[in-house]
Amino acid sequence: MTDRAAQADLFEKQASQPLPEGIWHRPGLFDPLFQADLAHAVAEIARQAPFTHPRMKGKGVFSASITNSGAAGWWSDERGYRYEPTQPGTTTPWPAMPPIFSEAVRRATDGTPWPRFASDACLINFYGPGAKMGLHQDKDERDFSQPIVTVSLGDAADFLIGGAKRADPSRVLRVESGDAMLMGPPSRMLFHGVRKVFAGTSPIAGLAGRYSLTFRKAL
Ligand code: CO
Repeated sequence: MTDRAAQADLFEKQASQPLPEGIWHRPGLFDPLFQADLAHAVAEIARQAPFTHPRMKGKGVFSASITNSGAAGWWSDERGYRYEPTQPGTTTPWPAMPPIFSEAVRRATDGTPWPRFASDACLINFYGPGAKMGLHQDKDERDFSQPIVTVSLGDAADFLIGGAKRADPSRVLRVESGDAMLMGPPSRMLFHGVRKVFAGTSPIAGLAGRYSLTFRKAL
């Protein structure tokens, strides 16, 4: 068996295993009309705070581009990772979270251990063709008892769920447009990333690529 086939075989076996405690995958939570409304809300945010490829602390840029909505926005440049109350280099606040975002969070957390999750920051990633995200932890927030809530829109993707250490083995979770995913304790600090985006699979008219809306309690 080739390495690639062996890896595909492994991922297939993993797909039938239960997810780690604290990770909730809610496939197809949002119907096509709601997805389209969310995508419109993202486009409106991007009009006020355009997507940019953030720089890394060392050298290089992320292959995904980002923008933010809410009281604070996640940012990265040569000074490192942090939340910024305004759009970097300006005194302009990030666009406020539209009501449909709060509604998405309410639906995503309903019936989970975090029904009153109060997000104050939404980092929106855009994955165009070939974009990916290496394994990392989300640790710039103040309260790790709160989950990260992700809504996927557009192209399907293979999301990677690793362990507590970067070198731990990871498993793949296919996420599609309209899915919600939560990472809360005891899995809040697991390494995770995006291995691959499946170009051309977006069911949303006018969206070629993948948006991930990641809701955080940052402050
Ligand atoms: Co992350």
